[in-house]
Amino acid sequence: MTKLLEIEGLQTHFFTRDGVAKAVDGVSLSLDRGEILGLVGESGSGKSVTGFSILGLVDPPGRVVGGRIVFDGADLVAGGERMMRGLRGRRIAMIFQDPMMTLNPVLRIDTQMIETVRAHADVSRAAARERAREALVRVGISSPDERLESYPHQFSGGMRQRVAIAIALLHEPDLIIADEPTTALDVTIQAQILSEVQTLCAEAGTALIWITHDLAVVSGLADRLAVMYAGRIIEAGPTAGIIARPAHPYTKGLIESVPQGKRHGTLLKQIGGMTPSLLHLPRGCKFAPRCPRADAACDPEPPLAEIAAGRGVRCVHPHLEAEESAAS
Ligand SMILES: Nc1ncnc2c1ncn2[C@@H]1O[C@H](COP(=O)(O)OP(=O)(O)OP(=O)(O)O)[C@@H](O)[C@H]1O
Ligand SMILES: [Mg+2]
Repeated sequence: MTKLLEIEGLQTHFFTRDGVAKAVDGVSLSLDRGEILGLVGESGSGKSVTGFSILGLVDPPGRVVGGRIVFDGADLVAGGERMMRGLRGRRIAMIFQDPMMTLNPVLRIDTQMIETVRAHADVSRAAARERAREALVRVGISSPDERLESYPHQFSGGMRQRVAIAIALLHEPDLIIADEPTTALDVTIQAQILSEVQTLCAEAGTALIWITHDLAVVSGLADRLAVMYAGRIIEAGPTAGIIARPAHPYTKGLIESVPQGKRHGTLLKQIGGMTPSLLHLPRGCKFAPRCPRADAACDPEPPLAEIAAGRGVRCVHPHLEAEESAAS
């Protein structure tokens, strides 16, 4: 069966006064129906711009300058805004970090949800309201009738995000792109929402791209991970394999900087150095200046090479399984 989403060599650049910031520079990834992909990386690595590019929401001075985004067989880059308008909200939905990106502060929840339903479905107001009510129940909002008549400011942050998720689910989209939607919430509420979204996606067969800088959050949720660095994917593959045996030195560094019970009492490792400025990227491998394994072989920049089935690494000196077992 064809993939639900296939991105090949995506390049999204920002043409600023100081130069061209290549926020996304050659990203390739694919997603099956119902699959959950965790898109992970430090701040500024290009995660959000990747998500916005899929939805056609990149504003000037930014522009998709290269690559293909094929959704269910249709090329979204070639199809342009007209094609996107037909898909956005209906077949591809987005959940933002700030639910107020989705919600209108001056409209009651029922008004907003009914409008959203009727934008893409030819149904009566009553039927649209019923669908909205069901969506609120699905995301765990009690007394939905009362809640429908409330304004966004009458909800807590966690509840507002639930409403935004309910709106994303209204049309049972094929794909949801969630950009750090739980980062601003309490850890307990974050965990609740994560597991609920996971269940909802499994029930509806919805594919999910969960964007986060927090590897711990996504490792319990995603089937596969794609790790971004300086606008590129530097490692991708099944979650369990990457967490257990990260191959790229950057991924390894990220994992070692996550607090874990079994390493209690030992100092957390940190990745040395700083994220490079996109306007002054080093030659060759973009991680080389911070990498303990870097040498002359790291220039030119290596491609994302397959080291095992479904497992890609952009590194000439990856941590390989054989070497790990030799060391232990
Ligand atoms: N409007 C813009 N104008 C100029 N450059 C931009 C703009 N938006 C993004 N960029 C560039 O793209 C880079 C990647 O941004 P992006 O928002 O995708 O990062 P991110 O990985 O989502 O980070 P975070 O974890 O902080 O959300 C930024 O560091 C910046 O250089
Ligand atoms: Mg972001």
